[in-house]
Amino acid sequence: WEQRKSGVWRYWELLPAISGVKPVTLGEGATPLVELERIGRMLGLKRLYAKNEGQNPTGSFKDRGMTVAVTLAKAIKARALIVASTGNTAASVSAYAARAGLRRIVVVPRRKTALGKLAQSVLYGADIVEIEGSFDAALKAVMTAVEEDPRLYPLNSFNPWRLEGQKTLAYEVAEALGGEPPDWVVVPVGNAGNISAIWKGFKELYRYGLITRLPRMAGVQAERAAPLARAWQKGLDEPLFVDKPETRATAIRIGHPVNWPKAMKAVKESNGVFTMVSDEEIMKAQAMLARLEGIAVEPASAASLAGLARLVEDGVIAPDETVVIVLTGHGLKDPQAMLEAGARRYIAGSPEEAVKIVLGLAES
Ligand code: F0G
Repeated sequence: WEQRKSGVWRYWELLPAISGVKPVTLGEGATPLVELERIGRMLGLKRLYAKNEGQNPTGSFKDRGMTVAVTLAKAIKARALIVASTGNTAASVSAYAARAGLRRIVVVPRRKTALGKLAQSVLYGADIVEIEGSFDAALKAVMTAVEEDPRLYPLNSFNPWRLEGQKTLAYEVAEALGGEPPDWVVVPVGNAGNISAIWKGFKELYRYGLITRLPRMAGVQAERAAPLARAWQKGLDEPLFVDKPETRATAIRIGHPVNWPKAMKAVKESNGVFTMVSDEEIMKAQAMLARLEGIAVEPASAASLAGLARLVEDGVIAPDETVVIVLTGHGLKDPQAMLEAGARRYIAGSPEEAVKIVLGLAES
C-alpha cells in the first residue's frame, strides 16, 4: 500500500475520504521525535523532545498538508494551484503540484523569502510572482486573483484540507510518547494554521478515547510580528494586527494571520499561552539546536526553543513537565541565516598553511 509508506496517509481513516483517487505523496510525515537531552538539562527540564519536521520531503511541515490538499485538488480537476507564501508553502506546493502534473503559481515577498525556499520553487518549476510587501499583501493578491478567475485553486492554510494533513503531527507525537500527549506542545505561529491543526489532531484523539488527557498549546511569535502574542499579553480576545511585520525569521513575518480565530481558540481551550521572542533569542536558539543537538533548523523553527526558554524562565512551564517543541523547517531553507551563526572559518593560502592552522586548532 502506497498509503502505508506515507506517515500522513497511514492515518487515512481520519483524513477526508476521496474514493478512487491515489494520494499524491512523496513519503511525508513519520518524522522523528528526538529527545533533546543536553538542552533539556540546560533548561532544567526532565523530558524535552523535538518533532523534527525539517525531515519532510521539501524540508518543512507544509508537506503534511500539501499531500492531502493537492490530492483533493487533483480529484476535483483543478487546473492551476496558487498560494501566497513566505517560502515554505511555495516550495511544498511546487513539488506536490509537479508530482500531480498541475500548474503551480506562487506569490512571495520580494527579497524577504529565504534563498533555499526560493531556489526550491525555481527548481520545481513554479511560476513565481515576487511582490513588494509582506505575506499579507501576497495573500490579498492571491484572494483577488482567485475571485476573478475560479480556475485558480488556492492552497493557503484557510484551505481545510491542508490543516487535515497537518493534524497528523499530533497523532505521531502521541504515538511516539507511548500513547499519551506531552504536557506542552510549543509551536511557532505565523498565519496560525499549524497550531490550530495540531490542536485539532489532539482533540480528535481525545474524542475517540485514544488519549486520556490533552496537552497545553504554546504559540510563539517574533516580537515585531506578534499580533496574537501582543493581544494575549494585554488579555485581548482579538489580535493586535501589525501592518509592517519584521523579523529575521522570515517564515513567520506575518502581521494579519488569517487563522487567528482558530489559533486563539486552540490556546484558550488548551489552557495554553502565546508568547513572543526577539530575533536575537531566535538566532541564539538556532545555534544551540545545531551545536548542542546536531539539528539544523531555520530561524522560525528556532522560535519554538526560544519561546520555550522564556516560558520556563517565567515559570509557566515547570521542570517536571514533558515538552515537545515543533521544529517546523530545515536549516538549509535559509543558508544566509546559517552563515550568520558565529562562523569559525580560517583561510589557508597553501596546503602547508592549512596543516599549520589545523595543528594549531588541535592544540587549542
Ligand atoms: N515555521 C515555518 C518554518 C513556516 O514556514 C511557517 C509558515 C510557520 C512556522 C508558521 O506556521 O503559518 O501555520 O502559523 N509558513 C507559511 C509559508 C506562512 O508560506 O510557508 P503557520
